[in-house]
Amino acid sequence: MSAREVIHYGRTLLRKKCEPVRDFNDLDDLIDDMFDTMYEENGIGLAANQINVDLQIFVVDISDIEEEGENIHVFINPMITETEGESWLNEGCLSVPNVRLDVKRPSKITMDFQDRTGKKFSKQFDGLLATVIQHEVDHLNGNLIIDRVHEVEKIGIKKELNSIKEASRAKANSK
Ligand code: NI
Repeated sequence: MSAREVIHYGRTLLRKKCEPVRDFNDLDDLIDDMFDTMYEENGIGLAANQINVDLQIFVVDISDIEEEGENIHVFINPMITETEGESWLNEGCLSVPNVRLDVKRPSKITMDFQDRTGKKFSKQFDGLLATVIQHEVDHLNGNLIIDRVHEVEKIGIKKELNSIKEASRAKANSK
């Protein structure tokens, strides 16, 4: 298996609500590639549309940061059903390189999801894991961290965003 190319802000699939997974056969290669890509890019989460795959799947590995509990996950067809509290984190995103933004999100969530075999779960998450999950669920709904901040904050990074978008589109067109 191997790392794939991460697509950047400006590409259309990052702005689309991804398709639900209905067939749980043959997902292993894709999921392995998602982990490989995330590790190669030093990320802690990656959504399938970030490698240009239109499916509701994301992977998380926060084991470098959190020592307690289960910290490596694959989530499929996620749906956040309840939220509580609020927390702030300075977030980055592999699809919006070199941009960091303070994002406010609920601190505790309940999420329905399936695992790679299709088995259904409903679980509560908090702490860093809850934040990373919400960032990745945003991706699968076509949202990015820049949508989570006030317009005034985006002014400061407008040039940066435009240059990411132009480079991203040029790269896509050159293929
Ligand atoms: Ni991201």
